[in-house]
Amino acid sequence: MPLEKKRVFSGIQPTGNIHLGNYLGAIKNWVQSQEQYENIFCIVNAHAITTKQDPHLLKQMTYNLAAMLLACGIDPKKSILFIQSEVNEHACLAWILDCFIPMGEMSRMTQFKDKSQKNAHNINVGLFNYPALMAADILLYDTDYVPVGEDQQQHIELTRNVALKFNTEYKTVFKLPEALIPKQGARIMSLSDPEKKMSKSDTKPHSIISLLDSPDEIFAKFKRSTTDSLNSISFNKEQKGVYNLLSIYQLLSQKTKEDIEKEFFNVGYGELKKRVAQVVVEYFAPIQENYYKLQKEQDYLHSILTEGANKAREIASHRYSIIKECVGLL
Ligand code: TYM
Repeated sequence: MPLEKKRVFSGIQPTGNIHLGNYLGAIKNWVQSQEQYENIFCIVNAHAITTKQDPHLLKQMTYNLAAMLLACGIDPKKSILFIQSEVNEHACLAWILDCFIPMGEMSRMTQFKDKSQKNAHNINVGLFNYPALMAADILLYDTDYVPVGEDQQQHIELTRNVALKFNTEYKTVFKLPEALIPKQGARIMSLSDPEKKMSKSDTKPHSIISLLDSPDEIFAKFKRSTTDSLNSISFNKEQKGVYNLLSIYQLLSQKTKEDIEKEFFNVGYGELKKRVAQVVVEYFAPIQENYYKLQKEQDYLHSILTEGANKAREIASHRYSIIKECVGLL
């Protein structure tokens, strides 16, 4: 009998355009390991409303994100793709988990501290409880692995802690999921400030490469990117800006570090920026073409997402009935 495949679950918020960080930290790895695992990918629109959203735009962005994930290579024959709000059990389990997560632990989440600084006018309870909903997403599906960027590691630790706590109290109910964090690309940095990660909420548009940027925008943004005054091109982590550009180049060109260092021996930063931009433009051109085709096919997207939600709901409702029973809910 063939060995059962391990299950992967991951999620992404439909807030604005997907950027190079999302792609290299998460999506690229989801696509590459589709054969190896049983995959569930979720567009987490309920997480998105922890910050203010225009309702009409949120619906559009949700479908646009589905089109983008498919354009990047998520294959609905190999992976379940669905929208979080279509499966009610996520919110129901989040509530139960809320009752098991200590305030102290939740208060230590660095992403909450970060986001509440950026959203000082709207620090709501949902933003604080965000990790409980994320834990529910993961634990509802008996997940083995969660492929994410480095910024999600703390949330996955919390997920494991609450699962352990639950298991100790009610015998083993939850599988303990493991984060799958890529060795390279787990933290793509802002182009203007390589001390900070590339982030959708960055107010400087030239800090972020969106997967939908035009070639001109991509060249212009890399041209402005921050490097240093050392004029030396090698994978030296102390040179944060140069290191970030080289990492992007390596991940998209598939060349080895040694070959890249040879290629850039005696080359200036201006030329480095041009070549990185060129690789990005070439890599994303077919993805953009696919995206614009798929985006027009709203009925097709609807059918994929409905089928995905049906499959996800089947797993989630079964799991949730067991969990509910444990805590004595009818
Ligand atoms: P989100 O939507 O912020 O980001 C989606 C994925 O992109 C990764 N990422 C990055 N990776 C490398 N460099 C960067 N600069 C960078 N920026 C973002 C993120 O680590 C993530 O993997 N909380 C999650 C969504 C979520 C989820 C889940 C993930 C909800 N429920 C359950 C896994 C499992 C988030 O906000 O992702």
